[in-house]
Order: sequence, then structure tokens, then C-alpha cells
Amino acid sequence: MKKIVLTAAAAVVIAAFTAPAPAFQGKKAAGGDAAKGKEVFEQCSVCHNADSDEKKMGPGLKGLFKKAKLSNGKPANEANIRAFVDQGGNGMPAYESILSKTEKDDLIAYLKTL
Ligand code: HEC
Repeated sequence: MKKIVLTAAAAVVIAAFTAPAPAFQGKKAAGGDAAKGKEVFEQCSVCHNADSDEKKMGPGLKGLFKKAKLSNGKPANEANIRAFVDQGGNGMPAYESILSKTEKDDLIAYLKTL
């Protein structure tokens, strides 16, 4: 009897570890949701590759946050990348009033994964 109880307890423990954890799905990483940001990025992908640094209309954005500098010479940090997306320029549309704050947060979270 004791053995059966232990086996059942073990099964519960195993189930708890192997079952997908819904609590983690769709949970927002600090500031933004990269999965949603990927959808936002669809409108950027006309001009930007996400999977390479090869130039399309604009530079490929793979490894964007790992770059030393942006094309405007500023360090590739979050504040400067947000400003770049807001302001655009040199063939890049300004997204300041096109995207909502949430969309931008999600977008940045996605760009960080590239
Ligand atoms: C119509 C084409 C076009 C679209 C759409 C576009 N971009 Fe751009 N983007 C450009 C061009 C061209 C540049 C280069 C500008 C420059 O060199 O100053 C650029 C530059 C950038 C840079 C700077 C990269 C670097 O290494 O300096 C970032 C970041 C960026 N775009 C993000 C985005 C995001 C995010 C979106 C979608 C919300 C987007 N772009 C949509 C054309 C576009």
C-alpha cells in the first residue's frame, strides 16, 4: 500500500515537471512580449531581414543589440534603437505615431532576440 502511494506521488511530481506550464506562456518579459513583437515586425520585414545582417532596403537586423554602433554612429542600446524607430530617416519611416507604446515594447523585446 505504501508503495502505491509513493508511486502515485512520484507520478504527480513527474506530471508537474513535464506538463507545459501555462503560467509561463504569454507571460510578458520585462517590458514586452517578443512573440507579439514578431508580429509587429512583419511590417518592418519588407525592408529588414531578421535572420541575417544582409541589407534589404535597410540593414539586416540580426544581432542588432550586439552591434557596437547603429548606422547613425550612436551605441546600439535600447534607448537609441527606440529613438531610431520613432524618428526613422534616410528611407526608414518614422514609427513614433504609427505604433502604440505596447507595440513598441513588444517590438524591442523581439529585436533583442535577433
Ligand atoms: C521602407 C523601408 C523600411 C521599413 C518599413 C523599416 N525600415 Fe528600418 N531602416 C530602413 C533604412 C533604409 C534604414 C537605414 C537608415 C540609415 O542608415 O540611416 C533603416 C534602419 C533601421 C535601424 C537602424 C539599424 C542600424 O544598424 O543602424 C533599425 C533599428 C530599424 N531600421 C528598425 C526598423 C523597425 C523595427 C521597423 C519596423 C517597425 C523598420 N525598421 C521598418 C528602412 C525601413
